[in-house]
Amino acid sequence: MALSVKDFFNTQLFLKIPQPTTSFASKTVIITGANSGLGKEAVKHIVTLGATKVILACRSLSKGNEAKFALQRFLKCSPDALEVWELDLESPASVKEFAARANKLDRLDVLINNAGIQTLNFSVVYGTERAVAVNVIGTFLLACLIVPKLMETSARLGVDTHLTFVGSALFNAAKYPRNHGDDIFTYLSEKKNVDMMNQYNLSKLFQILSVIQLASIVDPLTSTKASASNRLIINTLDPCFCKTGLAREISGVLRPVFTLFEFLFARTAEEGSRLVVQTASAGGETHGGYMRSGELKTYPPLITSEGGVRRRKYIWELLEKTLEVSANTDIPLFSLWSEQLSLGEEHDRFETALPTP
Ligand SMILES: NC(=O)c1ccc[n+]([C@@H]2O[C@H](COP(=O)([O-])OP(=O)(O)OC[C@H]3O[C@@H](n4cnc5c(N)ncnc54)[C@H](OP(=O)(O)O)[C@@H]3O)[C@@H](O)[C@H]2O)c1
Repeated sequence: MALSVKDFFNTQLFLKIPQPTTSFASKTVIITGANSGLGKEAVKHIVTLGATKVILACRSLSKGNEAKFALQRFLKCSPDALEVWELDLESPASVKEFAARANKLDRLDVLINNAGIQTLNFSVVYGTERAVAVNVIGTFLLACLIVPKLMETSARLGVDTHLTFVGSALFNAAKYPRNHGDDIFTYLSEKKNVDMMNQYNLSKLFQILSVIQLASIVDPLTSTKASASNRLIINTLDPCFCKTGLAREISGVLRPVFTLFEFLFARTAEEGSRLVVQTASAGGETHGGYMRSGELKTYPPLITSEGGVRRRKYIWELLEKTLEVSANTDIPLFSLWSEQLSLGEEHDRFETALPTP
């Protein structure tokens, strides 16, 4: 579903967002960017819903610990319920170290890829513009390194596990550059090719395309070890427009305009976090799917058209290469999965069954 003004007003002003109720009892959950905004609020719900352990993955340990103490005071939970682990998505070494540590956990039930940036300042990380680097490359490096642990937990304990990406409906508004040559990530490493007002939206478009492709590779429908109660569910959502620190870099004349817009329309971070938690505990019908306003949505033609499918495969191929080469991942990610987890053939949901919302 594409964005419309009516949909925006409804979601921001009228929609009733229910409290999440699905139990997280005995689960171990990682939330990236959990020291502020939606991530921090999601921690509150997940602990309240019974999780044994929630790991706050933060790029600053001091900010993470500050958030942990505030959460502990609020939740009155056991000190063992929350841990702060360092994670900087801009650093492949940090991501790999984090993933290695996560892979040693007794179990890992949920990874919520929530950390993200929206910036108007151009800089280059992983050989591309920084919003794409953090929201796509760093995020998928982590996700791909952790997929085997989520699948192993699922298979060993016979439970559903979740890999959830906090996306944005703004993917609908992305302008996809024309004539970007063979490598769009490299193309975006040159300032003259980048429109910073478009970069966040473009990064969220790349992200949603990659979620769909990842879900089609790691598909519970074709994994030989999967059954109805034993699967990794990969999904994404739009948490709606919420008042958080995300737009902190907006300055100058745009700042008062944004502040007014936020005052009129933004939901609280707590409300947005309910949608995050709902998606991170949703059923198998959401695998490869996109949730908005608490519902599974059909994808717009931007995604499902012939051009959309072509771009998805192109972005994924490039991402795979970047993860293995530029990010210097010494493990061959995808062959490792297929060997260890006996994955089936790639299963393209647009060529077979799409979820019916
Ligand atoms: N707020 C909205 O209206 C809205 C709408 C749609 C989607 N979203 C998405 O929601 C997610 C959460 O954002 P938010 O609104 O809660 O904003 P936020 O308060 O700014 O939270 C973003 C979190 O990501 C962390 N982060 C940024 N770069 C990182 C890196 N390189 N490595 C590790 N962590 C990093 C931040 O850490 P620091 O505190 O250290 O900077 C912060 O904890 C984002 O993916 C965003 O795109 C938000």
